Amino acid sequence: MSSINYSEKIPNNVNLSEDRTLQRALEQWQPNFISWWDDMGPEGSTDMDVYLRTAVSVDPQGWASFGHVKMRDYRWGIFMNPGDANRTIHFGDHKGEKAWDSVPGEHRANLRRIIVTQGDTEPASVEQQRHLGLTAPSMYDLRNLFQINVEEGRHLWAMVYLLHKHFGRDGREEAEALLERRSGDENNPRILGAFNEATPDWLSFFMFTYFTDRDGKYQLCALAESAFDPLARTTKFMLTEEAHHMFVGESGISRVIQRTAQKMNELKTDDVGVLRNAGVIDLPTIQRYINFHFSVTIDLFGADESSNAATFYSSGLKGRYEEGKRVDDHVLKGQTYKVLEARNGQLLEKEVPMLNALNEVLRDDYIKDSIAGVNRWNKVLEKAGIPVTLSVPHKAFHRNIGALSGVKVSPDGRVVSEAEWKANVDRWLPSGGDRAFVASLMGRVVEPGKFANWIAPPVMGINRQPVDYEYVRFN
Ligand SMILES: [Fe+2]
Ligand SMILES: [Fe+2]
Repeated sequence: MSSINYSEKIPNNVNLSEDRTLQRALEQWQPNFISWWDDMGPEGSTDMDVYLRTAVSVDPQGWASFGHVKMRDYRWGIFMNPGDANRTIHFGDHKGEKAWDSVPGEHRANLRRIIVTQGDTEPASVEQQRHLGLTAPSMYDLRNLFQINVEEGRHLWAMVYLLHKHFGRDGREEAEALLERRSGDENNPRILGAFNEATPDWLSFFMFTYFTDRDGKYQLCALAESAFDPLARTTKFMLTEEAHHMFVGESGISRVIQRTAQKMNELKTDDVGVLRNAGVIDLPTIQRYINFHFSVTIDLFGADESSNAATFYSSGLKGRYEEGKRVDDHVLKGQTYKVLEARNGQLLEKEVPMLNALNEVLRDDYIKDSIAGVNRWNKVLEKAGIPVTLSVPHKAFHRNIGALSGVKVSPDGRVVSEAEWKANVDRWLPSGGDRAFVASLMGRVVEPGKFANWIAPPVMGINRQPVDYEYVRFN
């Protein structure tokens, strides 16, 4: 079950050939996917051979094989972690019952919505990142971008399989619509806000893969608990691919900081103008990018109080992060959780039923995890002897969803007036000038082993290859 059949048109480990109708439906969707990739995939990449990993089995050990391939020929397919025939539902009202192999009628609409929302983020990020190859800071980074792009494409396949297999005609229509929406399009945008923002430069890209792919991790972890077993098994395998995306973000920012710190020491200055003239990204700008990407990303978890979140949990569709490791009753009725609200110009905690606060619970787990990586960035500064610390802003800062969307809050968590916000917004969020400066640094560096001036080389290469390995062959 865990080995992947590559002899079929659509690589899979779900015995696709035994379900002719489904196979035919997916084979009809496949050319539409390829034409979406040709239109919206990485610009100018058609003739490149890229050193990519491809999943060859879903075993935790050694599932990947590496080799140079054209991205268009990447073996996109349908892979699921092996199932456990005796798996039971371990949270919500159905706790203790057998997990579902098919979709119960009463949960059909909600499950479809969950799968479509997740599925929509996958092609969206490919669209957001499609121009970045033109300004890659190195061949190593170019390869990592492309690896992420093909895997997001495969994540789309994973969700489309579930739609085709379990949701009949509506599922097929949703699968088509996933190829029709476009990130940032006025008339037919992607579903979630952060996936309609531009990713105009590599600092944004690293921030996106650090913060926003991590949102993906938390959503996938919550779905990996689902009572709907095919969804749980599919998302578990997607998580193994997601880890690399977050690594690209964390190590990318870390290398930017390392290079800036080196210049600060060399020139013995923290003067923004001097550092910008020296071609590195000053720390205040990096902080503003953190503020932006963090705040836009935590909105993705949804409203702090949500009856949908309660329904999704109680009906067993979506669990909490690491549900199995928690020591409570996994039903949560009568329990409470603290959320924030603004009252009389202050942020105050209020206790609400925990079931309604599950978006906030997941958001808080996410925040803890993102802070850990920011602390690792601070170690880079500490090691260089630079007395500056970076931090994530207060969770009420720059929010557009939920109870906090109506108030203006500073990064340190003070409710501020409209006037104070306006006077400071360029110190708190990337300004037009910041973005123009970062854009001015973006130029293409693709000679093996060479790196743009604003970023340090990585400690090691991919799959134990040297840093100056020819990760991409331009034909
Ligand atoms: Fe993904
Ligand atoms: Fe990802």
